[in-house]
Amino acid sequence: MTSSTQFLDAIPYLGSGLGYRREIGSRILDAGDRVDVLEVVTEQFIQAEDELAALVDRFPVIPHGVGLSIGTAGPLDREYLRSVKRVSDITGAPYYSEHLAVTRAPGIDIGHLSPVWFTNEVLRAVIDNVHAVQDFLGKPLVLENISYLFDIPNATMTQAEFFHRLVDATGCGLLLDVANVNVNAQNHRFDPVEFLDSMPLHAVVQIHMAGGFWSDGIYFDGHSEPMDEATWQLLDVLLERVPIRISIVERDANFPDELTPLLDDVDRIRRAISAVRAPVMAPPH
Ligand SMILES: [Fe+2]
Repeated sequence: MTSSTQFLDAIPYLGSGLGYRREIGSRILDAGDRVDVLEVVTEQFIQAEDELAALVDRFPVIPHGVGLSIGTAGPLDREYLRSVKRVSDITGAPYYSEHLAVTRAPGIDIGHLSPVWFTNEVLRAVIDNVHAVQDFLGKPLVLENISYLFDIPNATMTQAEFFHRLVDATGCGLLLDVANVNVNAQNHRFDPVEFLDSMPLHAVVQIHMAGGFWSDGIYFDGHSEPMDEATWQLLDVLLERVPIRISIVERDANFPDELTPLLDDVDRIRRAISAVRAPVMAPPH
């Protein structure tokens, strides 16, 4: 696959939707056309291909993995990749998304998303990994910015520079988690708008929106609360700069009895995205 972003340019507008979670699965299916698109966590469907196929019959579905560990140097886990490809193929999605993160050191599963070390050496390894994954899956990889509690010391470049060089070298896309930008800005006291402007926004394909919570002076990306106003404002800032093709509301806990608050958020994001799009690009209902 080439390193230009021409493959990203071909990704269609799929609209505003939700992260599929089994706890609220039947309520999502009942939501009808208030949900344009679903995102599924790849690992939850590796053993559930029929269930995935049934979702694909109802909605456009984007697969989103958590276990690739693109930041780990060395060969990728081929057996895992084969499972990912089966899920990716069933969805028929125009891209595959993951995190710019480390979840695995050789022989050890770290168990959560850890930041990569922003150095030339790690960049070279990630570039190789992204090329390998894109070639294997036959579609672009779209990588998400994660939240992090600690910077890894002695980095030789910023996260934004790392993303720029990665996009330039591989043609991969960006899944911009707007909530994570807000969380990191609060915890590390930087200006989130300056951060957005430093990122390769031309490669943004999809966004995540979610709500977190404060505990002991730290803002956690809990995916468990309503979105805060700063995240909404950041969405508006982003939309002034770049069109968004897919938006997903992430909720992993504190599911409401009725989906109404989540669906209201999905609607609000759709309206915000549509307001800055040409009228011909209406949601695909
Ligand atoms: Fe996210």
